[in-house]
Amino acid sequence: PVDRRVDNLLRRMTLEEKVGQMTQIRLGKLRGNCEWNPGPLREDCMEAVLEDAKVGSILSGGGDAPNPNTPRAWAEMTNAIQKYALDHSRLRIPLIYGADGVHGHNNVLSATMFPHQIGLGATWNPELQEKLGASTGRAMRATGVFWNFAPVSDIARDTRWGRYYETYSEDPVLAGALAAANVRGQQSDPTDGTAKLTATAKHFAGYSEPFNGHDRAPAQLPIRYLQDTVLPAFQPQFDAGVGTVMINSGAVNGVPAHASKYLLTTQLRDRMGFRGVAITDWEDIRFLVDRYHVAANYEEAIAMAVNAGVDMAMEPSDAAGFTSGLLAGVRSGAIPGKRIDQAVRRILTLKFELGLFERPFVDAAKADAIVNGADRALARQAAAESTVLLRNEGVLPLSTGARKLVVTGDSADSVARQLGGWSVGWQGVPAGSPAPPAVTVLQGIKAAAPSANVVSATTRADAVAQAGDADAVVVVLGEDPGAEGEADTEEPALTADQQGLVDAVRATGKPVVVVLLTGRPQVLGTVADAPALVAGWLPGTEGGSAIADVLFGAVNPSGKLPVSWPKTVGDQPFSYDQLRGANTAAGSGYDPAFAFGHGLSYTTFTTSAPTLKSAEVRRDGQVTVSVTAANTGGRDGTLVVPVYVHQPVSKVLTPDKRLVGFTRVTLKAGESRTVEVSFDVRRLAVTAGDVDGSGKPEVARGAYDVVVGAERARFTVR
Ligand code: IFM
Repeated sequence: PVDRRVDNLLRRMTLEEKVGQMTQIRLGKLRGNCEWNPGPLREDCMEAVLEDAKVGSILSGGGDAPNPNTPRAWAEMTNAIQKYALDHSRLRIPLIYGADGVHGHNNVLSATMFPHQIGLGATWNPELQEKLGASTGRAMRATGVFWNFAPVSDIARDTRWGRYYETYSEDPVLAGALAAANVRGQQSDPTDGTAKLTATAKHFAGYSEPFNGHDRAPAQLPIRYLQDTVLPAFQPQFDAGVGTVMINSGAVNGVPAHASKYLLTTQLRDRMGFRGVAITDWEDIRFLVDRYHVAANYEEAIAMAVNAGVDMAMEPSDAAGFTSGLLAGVRSGAIPGKRIDQAVRRILTLKFELGLFERPFVDAAKADAIVNGADRALARQAAAESTVLLRNEGVLPLSTGARKLVVTGDSADSVARQLGGWSVGWQGVPAGSPAPPAVTVLQGIKAAAPSANVVSATTRADAVAQAGDADAVVVVLGEDPGAEGEADTEEPALTADQQGLVDAVRATGKPVVVVLLTGRPQVLGTVADAPALVAGWLPGTEGGSAIADVLFGAVNPSGKLPVSWPKTVGDQPFSYDQLRGANTAAGSGYDPAFAFGHGLSYTTFTTSAPTLKSAEVRRDGQVTVSVTAANTGGRDGTLVVPVYVHQPVSKVLTPDKRLVGFTRVTLKAGESRTVEVSFDVRRLAVTAGDVDGSGKPEVARGAYDVVVGAERARFTVR
């Protein structure tokens, strides 16, 4: 029936109405001075965008939020825009409103913010991620936002890159599993009477390894690496039915992704089977002229992008210029009319499938109750599960009966720093804005040890002086929040000041715990051998309670590194699956401070040698691995069991081990259980052929080893 409804509408639409649907314009253009200013919606601005240019979608990029910034104000605003659009659309086609809920509904001051994706990568818990996605979707829908530009499926390979914290993992299997779970959660059926929401797989593809780590610098990605490592992180989202894709702003191998038919059609559609809407990133068609110089003028750029596979332009800067350029392209024959129909068909199909034609509005009176402070317990669980205990030489857990604890460091009591970028504002919490409700580590520690004298030391001298009669010192170090290029750094390391503070309190001889609230694994310098080291990432609203849960042992840590922790700033790009070289007889030479998958617990575990259901499988078959996990220590705990594959001989280089699957198992002290992990043999495919890498990914026949811990089991692909 959706197809028929789309056909029916498409037949009646004018070309102007069609190209309007292919346009998404920022909220600022509907209010203030019809550009950026906050303020109430303006009738004349809405007329220009919604009636004249017939725009089909509006977005709040970054911190482009209504004022006052409450859920109810959002809902009233999106309802008003929707009403204007419907009343001024000849065929009553509803708008779709988009925003970046990358860790909760992060434009709303009172919403709950979850850990950023890099922390969720450390949970290795897709089920939890699905719940967080559902919660984010519910909050966004309550405010009339039915398009969420999340999750990020780019893989984390270079800590210099400012958007590292927005990714899940350096590994495509872990990143893909979590992204797909997030999509399932966000796109789940509403029970509250609203239309559905669409998630976005972004940024397709090859965005996360710009040259030298500078956001949007061109990337050089061998086809073999692109096909075998970068693209597979996206596939699970396509299989989960993600409704939209956002395109990488960067250039890959000399071609801007927005102009690449290879990426946007051959790979995205023909090989990976994506069926939804492909949207540009911010102003990116114009950049084909202004920045990349691959098109001589805007009209040529529009034709290039649309013919490559762009269905909708996000904030093409000037709606009228984009739609007139698109119209000119169709009239001159540079853009086939059927390409326009294909794009508009996808957009209308999305709007019908979401139910926007039937339910274009939301009940604004309910928004505050749905969004404000929602799911704080889930946020606390997520932050606790994302916390990785990197080292513990008998310091943790701390005693709740401690008499005096000193808490110090630049992120000990900073909501803005623990939330990170894309929180209330694009760059994080805007300076001067009221602090959103959140629990800092200082507050979390005070709550967890109510009878202790918890002293907040804000200078190094103070921390050292206070340490004298303290039971322990907790040093919380972080980084400034930031988004996109603003957060790039050539020095992804703790600063000299941060290291100096830790050195100084360690010199007092007191037990010292270092908590890192950073969006990337910072090179540690002198902090590398601190007796207790905890990575809490950017843990969100409940970060302080969750970190305290782990520090005092209310939660036994189960987080495992989703990325490799580099020893030096020279370790970039970096990942556990680097290939072997002739100078490294013992393997690839991978030498991290802490390896991918590392993470300690307050109990101890063992895993048995893996056993296989069948020692022979077909190339389209499945491998099922069984492992017995045992909790051999004195506390209940949760173990992540990663399953890797090693290929003893391969025609093209393959990593010493590749992650193919994983599971989590919660065991009481002394308990053991057998768990199963299955994976498709297709996951072992690598691009065949010679140096030109012109082949397609194929599974080579022959021997493979399943690796769990230090043990392995062999199987043969026939
Ligand atoms: O969704 C984002 C994208 O990740 C970066 N550029 C702006 C978009 C909309 O805010």
